[in-house]
Amino acid sequence: MSAQPASTGDPKLAAPADLPTHIGVIMDGNGRWATRSGLPRSVGHERGVDALRKTVTAGQKLGLSYLTVYSFSTENWRRPASEVGALFSLLRAFIKKDLKRLKSEDVRISVFGTRSGLPQDICDLLDYAVSETSENTRFNLGIAFNYGGREEIARAARRVARKVMEGELSLEELDQDAISAHLDTSEFPDPDVIIRTGQEHRLSNFLVWQSAYSELVFMDVLWPDFGEPHLKAALETFSARERRFGGLSSGAA
Ligand code: IPE
Ligand code: IPE
Ligand code: MG
Repeated sequence: MSAQPASTGDPKLAAPADLPTHIGVIMDGNGRWATRSGLPRSVGHERGVDALRKTVTAGQKLGLSYLTVYSFSTENWRRPASEVGALFSLLRAFIKKDLKRLKSEDVRISVFGTRSGLPQDICDLLDYAVSETSENTRFNLGIAFNYGGREEIARAARRVARKVMEGELSLEELDQDAISAHLDTSEFPDPDVIIRTGQEHRLSNFLVWQSAYSELVFMDVLWPDFGEPHLKAALETFSARERRFGGLSSGAA
């Protein structure tokens, strides 16, 4: 079922009472948005950054605590080098332009993914964004960049294995919590809801461990057109879901 906004830009549409703690967003559809208007795909990505800004602002306004956005996957290297380069340049521009404001808004930035293959200046900028905002507490923005869920799990497994080999952890202690604690997202709760725009109904390797019990909300809107009304619509959809985590409905017992 797709969630669509009940109305566009209606200021009276209040945020639902039971807000999720952590929202993950698969920001998909930039290329199609541009192609549809006869524009180069890179323009779709540029507009996608504007939609990201709007979404972070809306998330802050609605009182969310954690938002993780999927910006570049480990599989996106399969795209032409020119498109990969354009995506990297947009990340550079975003950090250079927005970091000061985000810092002043008490936003803490975390970065999830591998540094493997990334240009050194991108790694340095990501480190800078994380360290500059590390004391902030009001809103947590996770940027999944050069991120793949399976790659993250494999890296976590290597970290845990090293601790076992070095005697810091026993085999018996190697349980689900130990794996979670060694993921890039260890300081974030599991996402309550994952929103995917752009008409595809899949996770595409996003937070595959953490999404075991996430509510999935698929929206037809292409990412550059996403804004506060869509976020509110997704929250309404989430609040209408019954989460059972393998148990029974309340009242069924
Ligand atoms: C999402 O938009 C952005 C990234 C994957 C980096 P796409 O570029 O995948 O847009 P479509 O799916 O081709 O329309
Ligand atoms: C997922 O979108 C990755 C990001 C949004 C960064 P894709 O466009 O890469 O996913 P697929 O290829 O359609 O599965
Ligand atoms: Mg896509």
